[in-house]
This record gives sequence, C-alpha cells and structure tokens, in this order.
Amino acid sequence: MNEKIKIELPNNIQLFIKREDLLHPHISGNKFRKLKYNIQEAIDKEADVLITFGGAFSNHILATAAAGKEYGIRTLGIIRGEEILNTFLDNPTLSLASKMGMQFKFISRSEYDKKSDYDFIEQLKTQYNACYILPEGGTNDLAIKGCEEILDESDSLFEYVCCPVGTGGTISGIINSSSKEQKIIGFSALKGNFLEDVICKFVTKKNWIINNEYHFGGYGKVTDELVSFLNQFYFKTEIPLDPIYTGKMVYGVLDMIQRNEFQANSKILLIHTGGLQGIKGVNKLRLKKGKGILQYL
Ligand SMILES: Cc1ncc(COP(=O)(O)O)c(C=O)c1O
Repeated sequence: MNEKIKIELPNNIQLFIKREDLLHPHISGNKFRKLKYNIQEAIDKEADVLITFGGAFSNHILATAAAGKEYGIRTLGIIRGEEILNTFLDNPTLSLASKMGMQFKFISRSEYDKKSDYDFIEQLKTQYNACYILPEGGTNDLAIKGCEEILDESDSLFEYVCCPVGTGGTISGIINSSSKEQKIIGFSALKGNFLEDVICKFVTKKNWIINNEYHFGGYGKVTDELVSFLNQFYFKTEIPLDPIYTGKMVYGVLDMIQRNEFQANSKILLIHTGGLQGIKGVNKLRLKKGKGILQYL
C-alpha cells in the first residue's frame, strides 16, 4: 500500500506514502492498528462496554465507536467539555459515533484532566463492572504492539520513515519494528518538548528524533497557510491529508527536503495515519469564521 508521490523534488530524493488511511472506512490509519489487539483483549475478557476518552473531534472516539459496532460491544465516550451536551449532534464526529451506537458522558475540562487518575478509573470500574477502558488517543502496550505491524519487511529499503505524533504510541510501534539503520522522524502535532520522554518509556532503539517545528501554533490549530498547502497538495497528488496530524507532517517533510535536511538520493516513507473524518469539523469551524476550507472529501 505504498504509493510514490509524484512531485518534483531536489537531490534525487524519492517520497512514498503508506496509505494506512485506506485500511478501513471508519477505523482508519493508526486507529486500526491501535485497536486491533485491544479489541481482541476486550473480547477475551468478555467486556460488555468499551470506555474511552476524547475531545469532540477525536479520531479515536469515532474509531472506537466503529470498532464497538463491528464487534458487538457497547461503547461509551467520555467527552471533554460539558458545553456541547445539547448540541453534540451538530458535531460531525460525535453525530456519526452516536449513529454507530456510542453513548456519551460530557464532563468539564477540570474533571477531564483527572481521566488517568487512579480514583477516576476505579470509579468507572465500579460503575461499569465488565468494562474495558482505553486511554485517550488509545495508546497502551497493546496499541503499540498493533503499531509494530505498520512497517513490513519490504519497508526496510527506506532510509527515513516519517509519521505524525500525538500521544507517542504510533511512532513507538514504528521504532520497534524499524531496522536500526533507518531513521524515524516524528512530527509533533503538539506544542512543547515533552514527547521524547514519553516515547523513551516504550522503545529501546535510538534511531529516532521528534521534530517540534511544524505544529502550526499547537494542537488542532489550522492556519490559512496550512489549508492552502493541503489543497495544493491534493490537487497535485490526489492524496487527501488531515490538517491536524498527517498534513502538518507532510508540510514539514517537504520543507525539510527544500532545506537539504535529508541526505541526497534517499527514499523517504511517510505514514498516512488517517484522521480524514476530522476534516468536516475543521471546515465547519472555518466556514463560521469566513475562512477558506479544505476542498476535498
Ligand atoms: C490521524 C492521527 N494521526 C496520528 C496520531 C498520533 O498518534 P499517537 O497518538 O499514537 O502519537 C493520531 C492520534 O492518535 C491521529 O488521530
């Protein structure tokens, strides 16, 4: 599923993209990988409800709802922000998740911050006794095991593998299954320099770095420049990218190529981690502000 990207590049560099976004219509990209062994575990443990956490536009929330529907397990999404309680059906992500049978609990931002605390989790386990709890973003050991299947043997020909980073689970799986001669570059979708410490807990190899330069102002921030880049990229390549994760990574990689930050004659593999469902929500917010939108999907 690697596609060569047909754009002119300097220094005889070749760019390929692994279309993980095409794995499943709703459990797309890294979500498919992260959920695979978790769903198996939930079934083995005879869980009757999958509980997870996310913001109102979360890819992980929608993917969990779709996985629950596909495997016949109830799903509960604990959503950050009480203010959307009465309007959530106007939100494209939550309305689709709801159609797939997910139920929601909307909690305040301060309560949401406690979502990983022992007491918070124990309370959930008491309330829903046969539950299987997935963390925000879906990253845990089984998710990383699933992400180790993103690269296969034939990918060892790439000198560089690039992927977007949020909670660090996806890149950790990729690092674990990479060869030590490859260089793995993660493009952070968040502002700050904390991801290295998170990833170090999941990996032992040293063949990776996190680039913190292409978050466009922080998580979820979508600028006019980014929108215009993504529209142009789509019109040139017919590859749709999401503006929160993969779009920022591809912008970063192309910028780094122009700055000669990759070795000449190298082959670079980009991992398309999905997230295209979020475009509707981003476009809705941009239209409200009278701004240009992503013109695909
Ligand atoms: C589409 C997409 N790409 C990339 C990521 C980042 O993955 P991770 O959180 O495993 O770093 C996410 C978030 O999980 C995502 O939804």
